[in-house]
Order: sequence, then structure tokens, then C-alpha cells
Amino acid sequence: MRLPLPSTSPLLALAFAPWALAQFVPAPTDLINATGYAGIPVRYKEVPTGICELDPDVKSYSGYADVDVDQHIFFWFFESRGIDPETAPLTGF
Ligand SMILES: *[C@@H]1O[C@H](CO)[C@@H](O)[C@H](O)[C@H]1NC(C)=O
Repeated sequence: MRLPLPSTSPLLALAFAPWALAQFVPAPTDLINATGYAGIPVRYKEVPTGICELDPDVKSYSGYADVDVDQHIFFWFFESRGIDPETAPLTGF
């Protein structure tokens, strides 16, 4: 079922376009490039303590796995807490 749109919708959309564009955060330019599993390019950076993770001893990294030209999978990786991250399994409790 299509809802009838008021005739002013295009004008409203134009009126709010600058506001909507201003809501996007600029793309980060300081990402580290790496090659991930199966040769997939990965871009990431360490996330400073205080953004989501409050424990300064737990590092976290976020970024993208570029699986195709226009397909990017976002990830946010947190090191293990309570178990040495060097020996902890990749996923766990
Ligand atoms: C990662 O690669 C992009 C695209 O080639 C480049 O612009 C950027 O400077 C690189 N980042 C680093 C840290 O080398």
C-alpha cells in the first residue's frame, strides 16, 4: 500500500537536506591498512579509552573489512579482560 504524500514533501526534503548532510561524521583518514583473513583488506584504528570502553587496560580497535568495492563490514574488536590478551582465545566470555 502506498501512502499519499503531501505535495510539499519535495520542498520539505530540500529544506532539511543541509541539516541531514550535517549529521554525517566525516570519513576517518588516519586508519591503518592491513590485510586480513583470505586476503581481505582491513582498515582500522585503536579507539581511545573512554569511548565505549572505560578500562584503560582493555584496548579496542574499530574499522572496516573491505569485502568488495562498495561493501565494507564495520567491526569493533575488544581485547580480552581478565585473561591475558596474548593467550586468550579470539572469542570467549
Ligand atoms: C591507507 O591506504 C589509504 C588508501 O590507499 C591511504 O590514503 C592511507 O594514507 C593509508 N594509511 C596509512 C596509515 O598508510
